[in-house]
Amino acid sequence: MRILLLGSGGREHALAWKLSQSVWTNPLYIAPGNPGTAQCGVNVDLNLSDFDAIGKFCVYERIEMVIVGPEEPLVNGLYDYFKANEDLKSIYFIGPSKEGAQLEGSKAFAKAFMKRHNIPTAGYREFTTDNYEEGIKYLENHPLPIVLKADGLAAGKGVVICQSHLEAIAEFELMIQRAKFGEASKKVVVEDFLTGIELSVFVLTDGKSYLLLPEAKDYKRIGEGDTGLMTGGMGAVSPVPIATPGFMYKVEERIIRPTVNGLHKEGIEYTGFIFFGLINVNGDPYVIEYNCRMGDPETEVVIPRLENDLVGLCVAATQKELHLVKIQADPRSAATVVAVSRGYPAGYHKGFEITGLTDNYGRQTQIFHAGTKEESGNIVTNGGRVLCITSFGETIEEAVNTSLDVLQYVSYDGITYRSDIGYEFIAK
Ligand code: GLY
Repeated sequence: MRILLLGSGGREHALAWKLSQSVWTNPLYIAPGNPGTAQCGVNVDLNLSDFDAIGKFCVYERIEMVIVGPEEPLVNGLYDYFKANEDLKSIYFIGPSKEGAQLEGSKAFAKAFMKRHNIPTAGYREFTTDNYEEGIKYLENHPLPIVLKADGLAAGKGVVICQSHLEAIAEFELMIQRAKFGEASKKVVVEDFLTGIELSVFVLTDGKSYLLLPEAKDYKRIGEGDTGLMTGGMGAVSPVPIATPGFMYKVEERIIRPTVNGLHKEGIEYTGFIFFGLINVNGDPYVIEYNCRMGDPETEVVIPRLENDLVGLCVAATQKELHLVKIQADPRSAATVVAVSRGYPAGYHKGFEITGLTDNYGRQTQIFHAGTKEESGNIVTNGGRVLCITSFGETIEEAVNTSLDVLQYVSYDGITYRSDIGYEFIAK
């Protein structure tokens, strides 16, 4: 099967690595990809906002399946573009319609969807310039902390947790009146703050049935002990000890099934991954956010644990046959430790040579490239998150320690990582 995978991060390297193991894959193209994905297939220099160029490439290369990694092309309607084009509409497509992608593309859409389908989530109100003054009054009387969310996509930066009313009102003004996140923050969702342990749950759906993939927990703060600035993710573990069978039963009954059934009932076309960002509040699951894609760096632990053929799963999804498939997962623990650039998530320099990538670290470890590029035959840093070192172990501790051991041999100027990934699940 001739496959095109879109994206260029650690998530896409993990997906490309898995797709390349399938006997069905021939060839695999990745656009734009990175030096890691180049080891799994052929990188193609396509801009993901240039739908015409993607379409032309698919026709020229007789692509049979497109798998979309990041959210932006989906929120901008790549699925709908393919379905509206005679030459493209029969290509198998993994990713939701523009309407389905609104689960991630509009926080207000997601909240209203959850309300309609009785899916547990924090209480909220939404505000624009039209009810701005009412919003100020609402904030003044809101218990602390207060969660403000820009309605649209804001490169993962659109959620602010405010510890004082003054801070909340200033942030609210910045978002709505001063377009802090451009169009994305013209509408703001004000949410109640929930306390608990977060985890990420993923399904692949064909719009009617779904398959539950291994769950994961990611570590978003830059500093050890979950301190400091929010990042794109400093590491992840899977499985997650708090995802007990009892808890996951509640997740499926109260959240996953109503979401998939809700999409189906409302006639929203959705063939692809749904990422449920959940919080466990005293044993009960609530939705913090939906994403219309796999998580990053969660994919770097979920996909290595997946024992099924990924191409087979994707084809079954496009054929609405997921009810015939069973997920098989490696029972071992997987952990990924993300190596970032010094200064990230604020300013950082790029272009530093990376050494130690080609050494053989054994079958239990896989290095996924995130922000890297090739320059004069060398691999150099090319982003904030540079590499994801994923390892297996009998326990989370063993998996994390193996990744940390490997990191002793991987080097670039300013290499920074957390050594406490999975800390709350490791006996002191
Ligand atoms: N790890 C969180 C995300 O992918 O959005």
